[in-house]
Amino acid sequence: MATSPRRESEGRPPSILLVDDEETVLYTLEIVLRREGYAIERASSAREALEKVAATPFDLIISDVNMPGESGLDLLAAIRKRDDQALVILITAYGSETIAVDAMKRGAYDYLPKPFANDDLKITVRRALEKVALRRENLLLRQQLHERQGLHTLIGAHEGMRRVYDLIERVAPNDVTVLITGESGTGKELVAQAIHSLSARKDGAFIRVNCAALPETLIESELFGYERGAFSGAMARRLGKFELADRGTIFLDEIGDMSLATQTKILRILQEKEFERLGGQHVIKVDTRVLAATNRDLTKAIRDGAFREDLYYRLNVVNIQLPPLRDRLSDVPALVDHFSRRFAEKLGRPVRTFSEEFMARLMRHPWPGNVRELQNLIERVIILDDESVLPLDPRGEATTRPAAPTPGSGTDPLLGLPYKEAKEALLRGFERRYFEHLLARARGNISKVARLAGMHRKNLYLKLKDLDLIKRDDEEPEEDSPATPPDGGNSGPD
Ligand SMILES: Nc1ncnc2c1ncn2[C@@H]1O[C@H](COP(=O)(O)OP(=O)(O)OP(=O)(O)O)[C@@H](O)[C@H]1O
Ligand SMILES: [Mg+2]
Repeated sequence: MATSPRRESEGRPPSILLVDDEETVLYTLEIVLRREGYAIERASSAREALEKVAATPFDLIISDVNMPGESGLDLLAAIRKRDDQALVILITAYGSETIAVDAMKRGAYDYLPKPFANDDLKITVRRALEKVALRRENLLLRQQLHERQGLHTLIGAHEGMRRVYDLIERVAPNDVTVLITGESGTGKELVAQAIHSLSARKDGAFIRVNCAALPETLIESELFGYERGAFSGAMARRLGKFELADRGTIFLDEIGDMSLATQTKILRILQEKEFERLGGQHVIKVDTRVLAATNRDLTKAIRDGAFREDLYYRLNVVNIQLPPLRDRLSDVPALVDHFSRRFAEKLGRPVRTFSEEFMARLMRHPWPGNVRELQNLIERVIILDDESVLPLDPRGEATTRPAAPTPGSGTDPLLGLPYKEAKEALLRGFERRYFEHLLARARGNISKVARLAGMHRKNLYLKLKDLDLIKRDDEEPEEDSPATPPDGGNSGPD
């Protein structure tokens, strides 16, 4: 996602707090260490030092042991108690080796016996700060690993995706039901997982139910579980998916493919939030967050009588709509990079670089199978070590390669036309598809289509007329007029 794991402290010089009651010692230390490029702060007592540490974190604290009031050892103990990450170097009096050893045992990083040469000081400090840097790097790696398990599995910086990330972050901490929609392969399941792992339920289970594959006769036993002996073949108690998802998230996937009978059963569970195991005696209550996804147009399914409206409203409390890949082609290079790294890692091969021609080809492809299609393509190219592998269309056939047509491949009618006409026809075909898609996405709202296409309303109107996408006798919209779309101004998020 958009935020990088960079820490605030990156890029600034290491910070050191000097603690001594003697002004001249502080002065000398400061001069020497400033020259090394460190950021220096001073404190003249352990108490003052602790106040400073509480206000700003330091990378390193260098303190005298012997000071009036609390000693350097007291300061060390207080710092360790605060679980402060700062390293501590103590300056010990001549001949007090035992104190020094004791200090190391209590968590000091090192000690400097007085009197010390400036070079000793510099070396000790440098070594300490290297350790700080190393520790910080480890922290960063851990953080990145963590992020890979959350939102950060989602690649893409296009505005459409940024809107998705924003929604995920806003809905994740609240227990609202989310309906995730988008074409096949756009990342709906990844979004569901991201919501779960960014929620307070992240340590609970994430249970996916493929609703399309639920045979009607098995729904109850799958979702509610059963007791031993509930039916012939029930040899032992089995927990249902809802029970497994207690304190976690249940992800109802492919909900657009459920039969009406299944929908009714699912609706009942969502309403009652309690059930009995098959053959069970008592009611089980679960605390589960529901997420759902589909690649179908549910509003159309409702109109066709294929999806229950009440179930739709119960699931669609918040909608996250994933953009198809062809609407965010600018994300293709980052996705290619992501997948090639992943496969290289998996196959133990060096990361492959791709030719410009290949990348250009990817940018022209319509990606009907979206990110999944791109991922599969990259895997094929890497395994076969062959860039001429073509994207596949959903029927599994190679799409027309924009390079020179192979003699004898007479299946594409465009290949039989003179070049100019072929190009025109191809372009027109693309334009139709492009604007049809935008019109559908904007639900016919011309102003919105103009915005999405980055076009002037008037030019868009002419283009749509030319492509026969709007009726010739439609009234021409006024230039720059505020959106008065044909559908009455549906301006909900798309
Ligand atoms: N933004 C993305 N960044 C990285 N990988 C992605 C992204 N979107 C999808 N993928 C990958 O593409 C594949 C398909 O994603 P996913 O299964 O989430 O799609 P889907 O929308 O659920 O598809 P379907 O409707 O077919 O079930 C997965 O392997 C997923 O990891
Ligand atoms: Mg899916």
